[in-house]
Amino acid sequence: MATIIRGKDVADHVLSGVKADVAALLARGIEPCLAVILVGDDPASQVYVRKKKEKCAELGIRSLEFTLPAETKQEELLALIAKLNSDPGVHGILCQLPLPKHLDEQTIVRAVRPEKDVDGFTCRISADAERDLMPCTPAGVMEILRYAGISVAGKRCCVVGRSNIVGKPMATLLLLADGTVTVCHSRTKDLPAVTREADILVAAVGKPRFITADMVKEGAAVIDVGVNRGADKKILGDVDFDAVEKKASFITPVPGGVGVMTIAMLMKNTVRAAALQNPAGQDS
Ligand code: GUN
Repeated sequence: MATIIRGKDVADHVLSGVKADVAALLARGIEPCLAVILVGDDPASQVYVRKKKEKCAELGIRSLEFTLPAETKQEELLALIAKLNSDPGVHGILCQLPLPKHLDEQTIVRAVRPEKDVDGFTCRISADAERDLMPCTPAGVMEILRYAGISVAGKRCCVVGRSNIVGKPMATLLLLADGTVTVCHSRTKDLPAVTREADILVAAVGKPRFITADMVKEGAAVIDVGVNRGADKKILGDVDFDAVEKKASFITPVPGGVGVMTIAMLMKNTVRAAALQNPAGQDS
């Protein structure tokens, strides 16, 4: 039976470090500040934005909310981002996705200065990773692996899913940690044969219970990034948890696994952004 890795334990560990970083910034007269932009009235986005603001308040991070009507023009949104980009009191900018269809998501995302892009969407994961704000969900998975004592170096890693937000940056982070990485997707031939090779299997496909026990190597660490709604509105992961749990050495549940890490990493990125924008030794 696998050890179940609870996301909350890992998130609490990360957030205790964030709290210490906030205290250090406040002691220098710097109040970390996150600007959250919400365009339109998508109910799920409203819930996400509220949760992010609540977490900021809990940690002593200032948050500013900009709620814009669904019919906001692209130029208006770009003007707001430009204003926040040049405001030294704002350290992080987040534009909640999805955006209304008439807005070009790529253009909006790229308009945020990389130093303030706390979602890590513009991150190219450079060799100078110390200065990068990593994409939150993949960075959260790396924290989970570290916390559970699962080393990546030399391991066979398989990422199922190639999205820009999760799959691709996940593969890069595993590669940076010296894993041997394969990325699978809808066109991969004989997917189970590939996933069965993996010591570390990350599922980010967006299909409920897609990863079945026959696709998992005995003793693998299985990380489930999936958030799918079942017919009864219950949240289901990408992994058939009950069956895979019997075969894996480590597994993350859904809900209660990777999900809580995304917001924790957003908070970590925000205080990191504030620190990087205010290097020590430059205080007045
Ligand atoms: N929509 C769903 N997840 C996210 C996220 O992590 N960041 C932003 N900005 N929008 C999202």
